[in-house]
Amino acid sequence: MTMRVGVLTGGGDAPGLNAAVCGLGRRLLTANATLIGFEDGWRGLIEDRSRSLQNANFQHLLVYGGTLLGSSGDNPYRDPGTMVPKVLATMRNHRLDALVAIGGEGTLGAADRLFREQQVPVVGIPKTIDNDLDATDFTFGFFSAVEVVTRAMDDLRSTAESHGRVMVVECMGRHAGWITAYAGVAAGAEAILVPEREAHLEELCSNLARLRQSGARSAIVAVAEGARLFENGACLSSMEKDEFGEYKTGGAAATISKRIQARLGWEARHLVLGHLQRAGRPIAFDRIFALRLGARAARLVLERRFGFMAAMRAGEIVDVPLQAAVAARKTLTKEFLDRYENFFLPIGGP
Ligand code: F6P
Repeated sequence: MTMRVGVLTGGGDAPGLNAAVCGLGRRLLTANATLIGFEDGWRGLIEDRSRSLQNANFQHLLVYGGTLLGSSGDNPYRDPGTMVPKVLATMRNHRLDALVAIGGEGTLGAADRLFREQQVPVVGIPKTIDNDLDATDFTFGFFSAVEVVTRAMDDLRSTAESHGRVMVVECMGRHAGWITAYAGVAAGAEAILVPEREAHLEELCSNLARLRQSGARSAIVAVAEGARLFENGACLSSMEKDEFGEYKTGGAAATISKRIQARLGWEARHLVLGHLQRAGRPIAFDRIFALRLGARAARLVLERRFGFMAAMRAGEIVDVPLQAAVAARKTLTKEFLDRYENFFLPIGGP
């Protein structure tokens, strides 16, 4: 009997999603499986919206950003009493032997619960530009986002230098500083502020002042949207929490640029790169990485090894228990921060 397999892409999109579907689909169709794509993440299973995926769907697909299936942050555990039974009914209606969930913390967290609590035969593929999933070295989409931010900061150099300004660039990543750190280091930002280390504006400004005294006309400050800012010992960042009990992010760059200008009289501007970081085509690395993860997930399905996720460990594509991936958030490690100590706050000066 050929297998019937469902696939969904959930959460914020990430460059490489289409390549992952492509890697999964090509391998499964070669094994004569039937592949059904559910639309808009878990919502497609809750509302039973799907379409059949054929080889023709995969031609050129890996080149494009976004996701052909559509995505949403919806999740059956938003209202488990009603929505979990709907997911199970959709699985039965389509006679699914397996379901592949491609997503980050929220999407895979739901997949893990459905596997453990309802014995749903799931396999996971990790994606997020934030790179904050545990149990995998990297998530696809991350390096494409880093590339966007690095190029933006490279380009900002000329206007910053022309006008003798500080440019403060806000990067995505929620509560993890991966994008900010990698792009900030790659672009030689004069200061990098990440959630993993408290950012004290006095230190930032005194380092920037020293830099200016040494002859610098301009500077770039890379700041993570989740950075926690302090001034005179008081926290300037939002203390409001979202529905998951996490501090709300955003607004850090605007606050910092105003403070730099007020404290140093050094003209400052801010730029929020926002969804550009998720937009556009995946870089070649992410296409190949996602393709390989998709193919690995297909293998797990065909071997009926459920409750696992395809992952990268020490550069190899392996499989790990889904639970390990969602158990903890992966943030910048102390070793990482120490390695690039000169770049992170307190940093900046020559
Ligand atoms: O998790 C990916 C991410 O892009 C975060 O970096 C960012 O904070 C968030 O999603 C933005 O979410 P939305 O697309 O819902 O605005």
